[in-house]
Amino acid sequence: MLDMHAATRTPTPIRREDYRPPDWLVPAISLDFDLDPARTVVRARLEVTRNGAHDRPLVLDGAGQQPLAVRVDGREVNDWRQQDGGLVVPLAGEAHVIETEVEIAPETNTQLMGLYASGGLLCTQCEAEGFRRITFFPDRPDVLATYTVRMTADRETFPVLLANGNRTGAGLLDDGRHWAEWHDPFPKPCYLFALVAGDLQANVGGFTTMSGRQVELAIWVREADLPKTEHAMSALKAAMAWDEQTYGREYDLDLFNIVAVADFNFGAMENKSLNIFNSRYVLADPDTATDADYDAIAAVVAHEYFHNWSGNRVTCRDWFQLSLKEGFTVFRDQGFSADQGSPAVKRIEDVRSLRASQFPEDAGPLAHPIRPESYLEISNFYTATIYNKGAEVIRMMATILGPRSFRAGADHYFMRHDGEAATCEDFVRAMEFGAGVDLSQFRLWYSQAGTPRVAARLTADPGGGRATLNLAQSIPSTPGQPDKQPMVIPLRLRLFAWGSGAAIGEEQLVLLDTPEKTIVFEGVGERPVLSINRGFSAPVIVEADRTAADLAFLSRHDDDPFARYEAMQQLMLDTLIERVSTGEADHGPVVAAVADTLADPALDRAFVGEAVLLPSESFIGDGMLVVDPEAIHAAREALRRDLGRKLESEWRAALADGADAPFALTPEAKGRRRLRGIALGYVAASEAKDGGAIAFRQFERADNMTDRMAGLVTLVNLAADEREAALDIFYNRYSDDALVIDKWFSAQALATRDGTLDEVIALAKHRDFTLANPNRARALIGAFGVNQRIFHAASGRGYAFYADQLLALDRLNPQTAAKLLPPLGRWRRFDEDRAALMRDQLRRIVDTPGVSKDLFEQASKSLE
Ligand code: PHE
Ligand code: ZN
Repeated sequence: MLDMHAATRTPTPIRREDYRPPDWLVPAISLDFDLDPARTVVRARLEVTRNGAHDRPLVLDGAGQQPLAVRVDGREVNDWRQQDGGLVVPLAGEAHVIETEVEIAPETNTQLMGLYASGGLLCTQCEAEGFRRITFFPDRPDVLATYTVRMTADRETFPVLLANGNRTGAGLLDDGRHWAEWHDPFPKPCYLFALVAGDLQANVGGFTTMSGRQVELAIWVREADLPKTEHAMSALKAAMAWDEQTYGREYDLDLFNIVAVADFNFGAMENKSLNIFNSRYVLADPDTATDADYDAIAAVVAHEYFHNWSGNRVTCRDWFQLSLKEGFTVFRDQGFSADQGSPAVKRIEDVRSLRASQFPEDAGPLAHPIRPESYLEISNFYTATIYNKGAEVIRMMATILGPRSFRAGADHYFMRHDGEAATCEDFVRAMEFGAGVDLSQFRLWYSQAGTPRVAARLTADPGGGRATLNLAQSIPSTPGQPDKQPMVIPLRLRLFAWGSGAAIGEEQLVLLDTPEKTIVFEGVGERPVLSINRGFSAPVIVEADRTAADLAFLSRHDDDPFARYEAMQQLMLDTLIERVSTGEADHGPVVAAVADTLADPALDRAFVGEAVLLPSESFIGDGMLVVDPEAIHAAREALRRDLGRKLESEWRAALADGADAPFALTPEAKGRRRLRGIALGYVAASEAKDGGAIAFRQFERADNMTDRMAGLVTLVNLAADEREAALDIFYNRYSDDALVIDKWFSAQALATRDGTLDEVIALAKHRDFTLANPNRARALIGAFGVNQRIFHAASGRGYAFYADQLLALDRLNPQTAAKLLPPLGRWRRFDEDRAALMRDQLRRIVDTPGVSKDLFEQASKSLE
């Protein structure tokens, strides 16, 4: 059943300030599932206790199900009533046992929330509010219960029955069915409940914790996928060891299960001891997964595992505190990935994705603080702001406190709040207590939205031996927040001497906590160059008055790898924006800086790959007042062509480097592949006659998906004859591997060449295209939405097509549809004609009868 929203009835927002503790607690629940895809019977037995002195009835949430029976203390009652899909039961005493029975139909559940069917198995997704679609319950994260779960199902179709905790019993029944019972001793909110039933096989491993507990690890997949689970298994073990070493956190049960499912709204879910994953974050082998896929699998496996402490043992009081678990856990998984590979490259990747998704969000109509004040639909707040900016806020605390104090604060947080449903405020207080600092003003990061800007001006007086740095901060207004107070912005900075390239003095950590601040440097003999926001110490936009020569200098001499990358990016960006606005620009400094970076033997190849990559078309657009998609595309292509031609022999050398070595997953081999892929793009951009042939050869000969995909992506953007051939070969080779076919759709949807719009529209009718599978929908429609040049085709056909797809998807899966809306909401950044066309589509969505609350919230806020 869809969550229908009548366009005439405006839904009421939920507000953070309205939080009240629950009227009734549920210390224990027993569930009995008679599983069947068409008709599953759910019997629930809740032990409820009155919380405080009040005479309010018990209110249980529900969505879409009818109570077949309601019993209080064993006796059938009929004085209950239904309200907003839920159940209101008057109760006289302090403690009662409530039993309910409902019927649900997993196979018709296209929202993928609650109990649903995917590829022949049955599984659950309860965060944030899916449990109410399974049974009547106070569906809020501050009601913690112990769970006992009994499942009965057909033995042949569902030989494996899993739930949270430990299996306490199992047996056969006569009618071809069997049963299993599970018990989870840790009280948990219902969003962490899970069950899975299906024909699955496990890759089984083991881990001994630091105190000697033997933990059985199992990754459950379809039998054919078993060989693709090794990487996830080793990532899981590494994550378990890392959390012990880095945070002193140990696993707390004897069993840890991961299940891969093909239909999933997000990446994965941290259900207690039964993590359920989108299969794209589990399955990998060299023939089907790119290096980026391998890295993402390790990061997501670690992320979900880390939630066992930051999320499960200490959970959230209410959904306004979502960043408490998500920001912190992203920060933790970023630290893990950094330690597994290159910290510098990991930081660059994380900042790139923050800028690609969070900065635009913070600058647009959907901007919200990491702890929002209100929402219509909570699933719209699983955003880059909550996750990625949330992680940056934790990182700033770690930077300000230093590693020892930060760890002391984290220890205190876990100890003080273990078993509780906590708030962001509890976290900050634990940090203050553990570290002995005052974070009063720092708390503004939780309440103020918008990306702060920092203007930096360095004036040098080398004769007098000093330099003066003037810093000024400003925070743009965001919806509902016209005026902002100055924040605490931690800026790591250092000066370098223009002549020698040597550092002047040590790195400093400056806390910019006033509107302006002046810092004086002594002992400055030569002209200094400013390196600022090193390591991206604060999620801000720095506007430093540095010349192209300064930036080129830093790209060679800065000793902070991130700052070095950043100088190069800024140089490229300045050059591109110059060309977009004036029609020409001197490419010389960029070409020289790229040449020097390629030639520096001290740099690891993965870093070089990041450093020589041009900013994306949309990132260039974000730096402009009015985005001109065609001019941006043309300017970027011109610079790519120039770089391709002027450095042709360097790119060809990079292409040959390691090309014949057999596949390995070492950081060195990954770095070479990364650089090879980028080099291939530049060779093609040079318009060399053999560009298509080289790309095709790499595509055909590759012994791994990274190289093959680089070949395909390059060809997809060329007019070369090899283009169609490569697409066909790829399709035929992988036609039965959904995750690879997703790549086939994405590569075409991301092409920036002419004709892409028609191709995407045609691909939406391809026999393998379906909106019912979120990965497939994102592969085509999601990728198209971020393809700036094509999505923003001046005709507006891209917008209309996009809105058609979103409305169709909304009827199946409102959550996933709503997540895709933001590209349509960026109309303020475009010329009047495009803005009007975008608003037409937003209005059409808002006015559609029966549109979901999810999509309505996103579209209506985008119109404001
Ligand atoms: N809590 C999950 C995570 O970040 C994300 C998620 C949210 C998954 C909602 C499903 C539904 O790890
Ligand atoms: Zn998470």
